[in-house]
Amino acid sequence: MMGMGGRHNWRLTSVDSSILCLLILLVQSIPAQQEGFISIKCCGGKGQTDSSSITWISDDQWYPDETGCQNIARASPDNYTTGHDKVRYFYIGNAEKRCYSLPTTPDHDYLIRGTFPFSNTVLGSESPTFDVLVGVTPIGLVDSSGESQVESIFRATDQYTDFCLVQETGDPYISQIELRPLYDDSSYLDGKDSAVLLKLVDRVDLGNSGNTIRFPDDPNDRLWTSPDTERVSLSAITAINNTISKTAAKVPLKVLETAITNEYSFQFLYIDLETRDCNYTIFLHFFELDDNVRPGQRVFDIYLNNEKQKANFDIREKGSNYSEVALNVTANGSLNLTLARVENRSKFGPILNAYEIMQIRKWVQGTNQRDVRVMDRVKDGLLQQNKENKKLEGWSGDPCQPSSWDGLACHYSNGSTIITKLDISSSQLLGQIPTMISQLTYLKELNLSNNGFTGKIPEFPRSSMLTAVDLSYNDLSGSLPGTLVTLPHLTTLNFGCNVHVSADPSTFNRSRVTTDSRECARPGSPSKHNRVVIAIVCGSFLVAAAVAAACLWLCRKKLGTWQCMNGKQLLMSKGAVYSIATTNEDPLKTINIQMFTLSQIENATQKYKTLIGEGGFGSVYRGTLSDGTDVAVKVRSSTSTQGTKEFQNELNLFSAIRHENLVPLIGYCSESDQQILVYPFMSNGSLQDRLYGEASKRKTLDWPTRLSIALGAARGLTFLHTFAERCIIHRDVKSSNILLDHSMNAKVADFGFSKYAPQEGDSGASLEVRGTAGYLDPEYYSTQHLTAKSDVFSFGVVLLEIISGREPLNIQRPRNEWSLVEWAKPYIRESRIDEIVDPGIKGGYHAEAMWRVVEVSLACIETFSAYRPCMPDIVRELEDALIIENNASEYMKSLDSIGGYSLGGSNRFSIAMKPPVLPPPPPTPPEPSPVNPQSMASVAPR
Ligand SMILES: *[C@@H]1O[C@H](CO)[C@@H](O)[C@H](O)[C@H]1NC(C)=O
Ligand SMILES: *[C@@H]1O[C@H](CO)[C@@H](O)[C@H](O)[C@H]1NC(C)=O
Ligand SMILES: *[C@@H]1O[C@H](CO)[C@@H](O)[C@H](O)[C@H]1NC(C)=O
Ligand SMILES: *[C@@H]1O[C@H](CO)[C@@H](O)[C@H](O)[C@H]1NC(C)=O
Ligand SMILES: *[C@@H]1O[C@H](CO)[C@@H](O)[C@H](O)[C@H]1NC(C)=O
Repeated sequence: MMGMGGRHNWRLTSVDSSILCLLILLVQSIPAQQEGFISIKCCGGKGQTDSSSITWISDDQWYPDETGCQNIARASPDNYTTGHDKVRYFYIGNAEKRCYSLPTTPDHDYLIRGTFPFSNTVLGSESPTFDVLVGVTPIGLVDSSGESQVESIFRATDQYTDFCLVQETGDPYISQIELRPLYDDSSYLDGKDSAVLLKLVDRVDLGNSGNTIRFPDDPNDRLWTSPDTERVSLSAITAINNTISKTAAKVPLKVLETAITNEYSFQFLYIDLETRDCNYTIFLHFFELDDNVRPGQRVFDIYLNNEKQKANFDIREKGSNYSEVALNVTANGSLNLTLARVENRSKFGPILNAYEIMQIRKWVQGTNQRDVRVMDRVKDGLLQQNKENKKLEGWSGDPCQPSSWDGLACHYSNGSTIITKLDISSSQLLGQIPTMISQLTYLKELNLSNNGFTGKIPEFPRSSMLTAVDLSYNDLSGSLPGTLVTLPHLTTLNFGCNVHVSADPSTFNRSRVTTDSRECARPGSPSKHNRVVIAIVCGSFLVAAAVAAACLWLCRKKLGTWQCMNGKQLLMSKGAVYSIATTNEDPLKTINIQMFTLSQIENATQKYKTLIGEGGFGSVYRGTLSDGTDVAVKVRSSTSTQGTKEFQNELNLFSAIRHENLVPLIGYCSESDQQILVYPFMSNGSLQDRLYGEASKRKTLDWPTRLSIALGAARGLTFLHTFAERCIIHRDVKSSNILLDHSMNAKVADFGFSKYAPQEGDSGASLEVRGTAGYLDPEYYSTQHLTAKSDVFSFGVVLLEIISGREPLNIQRPRNEWSLVEWAKPYIRESRIDEIVDPGIKGGYHAEAMWRVVEVSLACIETFSAYRPCMPDIVRELEDALIIENNASEYMKSLDSIGGYSLGGSNRFSIAMKPPVLPPPPPTPPEPSPVNPQSMASVAPR
């Protein structure tokens, strides 16, 4: 059971047991003689029983998708294919395969038959050619030249057997699959090396000019067809018949009831066989139909390719009417079976009732069974969280043969194929890393990087052969298992860019293991157009060395910009060191926050006189402490849905966190059930207000200031995300939570929602989804799984606000502009940046700097979180943008001072740079610049 459970087709995975039950039910509910039959009509209806009382099932258990289903126009319904008029096409790539995994009993013999009627109506550009495999042994090449059926007899080696199509050209297709257990009376594989299978070449019921004989006449449901007259030498062949009531024969009576005979001889010619030395077994079935023939009266010789295989053959020699002969022959391209009367001795000419020609094929050993089982369970584990994943969809049949699954590398050693490499990086995979992965005995390289894996890193057995492991760019958490770090063969371990992973530096004492995090480049770089350009350049002009070199430089440069923290810093994160260069404060120094009494608060706020805002926590009032400090006082409203927990949360967090881009907590009051927090008053209000609130009406926020605010906020968030050994997720990043101090420095505020990121033991999913509409990470919303990347998404929205000066959600606008993200994305993708840029800053920005910010924002709002950058990446990009912007303005200033250019009092305008060509500066320049931050401070706060 276990073997099968781990091993059916991928689509079955999640319904594992139910399919098993179904198959068992199916097997039990059908007549005894049909036991074990599996009859599949691809894209067909369920539960059909045909005229031969065979019950058919659809293949939707293996492939529920309807997209590959096509109707075939059949000239006339024939019994051969039971009139089924649908085929399933598999739209797959070269050498890819799709398999039907069928339950079998080990050491039992089976007949398996696939039907491949070709339909011209769906002929694509390329006519299909594909291999048909039992397990990993090819049993036939199907092409579109006509109706085709492929059949073979094999001995099952496991509790399932794959029936596969391997693409060569065009799209493989299939209409029917029939699996038939062969009962005791079949002896096809008896006496043969167990490592062979028989591929049917022909099975003929001689003398029959009518219908194909099959089940129920043949309990094994072999198809006995009437002879193809072209194969038989036509000279005076007579069909004879007789009614037989009983025989010990292994072929149906109906088949034996007809035969052909000739006075002297007859022959069968096969000239279209495979043109290489192949071994064939030929079964000849004889039944003496003429009661007048006595033993010794019908004696003939049997020739195969001009060699006498049997001399003086007499059916009745042993007193029976029936005789069977099996012949072995090696043939190349053609076969000549001749039966000839022994002259002078025999009264009657030769007779033959039926024959079968089978090609003997070596049974190809599949991949190491243990590896296959483990790999199937790894696949199942991945599928549970990634149902529609394209890569996993292609993981069908044997993992290594005839070609390996995408992402696997295999090795043939000591007569067996083993899995040595698993690389599923950048495959958009979510959920836990399947722990079975550690059971791949021969695995040397494991690359899981650039996915959305969460949860703990699995433990590995000492026996593991792993030399290189890359776990970087996921959302893994917990500690790095000692069993992994200390693996005997491990030389490279990369776990960078997993914000929640903690590692004990002491485990890295062994210098052998290099923890390389420099390869920590993001997969989905935001600069899609750049990457495309690079790819094209790389692809077409590689010959030109100069171009290639330039290309390499560009690629490197692009990759380089997306590095996260490097491994060393990450390693040290356990020791409460963080990777942000812009601050030198010790995050762990004990900060004493002030405790206020209620009356002090009431005094400071003049009994809550000036309400300046409403937050998730409660109302915010302006106040002045006795020492003259202007403060904002947050009072928890009694109706607030958030409780004491949040209050404690903020207290605990704030007492430990200080950063120049975070609003510090000055004090708190928790007297008589009141929960009050005291912050410094931010005299320049919120970014939101500055962008499109009241303050924006008085004065447009200029681009360089926007840029520096974005950078400040990004630094603040980076600090949170990399804080000490825990990652703090803000959970409510939005422009109204980015406050501006008297110098227009950005300070991230409102930790009412924030919570320590889920740790080992916590269940991240148990948290209810919180956040603000318009900023909410769709992945967090759908999975309820909170990660630092949710903040990144929200921050991306903030960047879009900064660029466009628009609110993230506004249902006053036309329907397609409700959501800022949805509205802006198409413009960005088409490089029509100027159409989304805030009209208020038109002409006031450097195009390249703007592009940088646009690209970062686009990356941040990637639907799939693994494609979003980390906060440190964003900081780096914004720093670059700011440098570009500042250099540009310095340059313009210098031009100004030379006096060559007069720009109507403004020293800011856009320098048209590729890629986007921006419009020339508007005729009336905006506000005078540069902005003196101090002068901005005079703008009254909201
Ligand atoms: C299919 O079988 C039915 C009855 O068994 C017979 O009447 C019919 O002629 C057959 N059709 C073909 C195309 O052989
Ligand atoms: C044919 O080959 C099988 C083994 O593959 C052997 O058992 C059998 O005796 C052979 N028959 C003849 C006629 O050589
Ligand atoms: C059997 O042979 C007789 C003549 O010997 C013929 O009349 C009859 O139609 C044949 N039956 C079949 C089923 O071929
Ligand atoms: C055919 O059979 C012979 C003798 O059994 C064997 O030596 C040879 O390898 C076989 N050839 C193939 C192509 O299987
Ligand atoms: C087939 O074999 C027989 C007997 O060896 C021979 O007489 C005949 O010429 C062969 N036919 C062909 C087409 O080779």
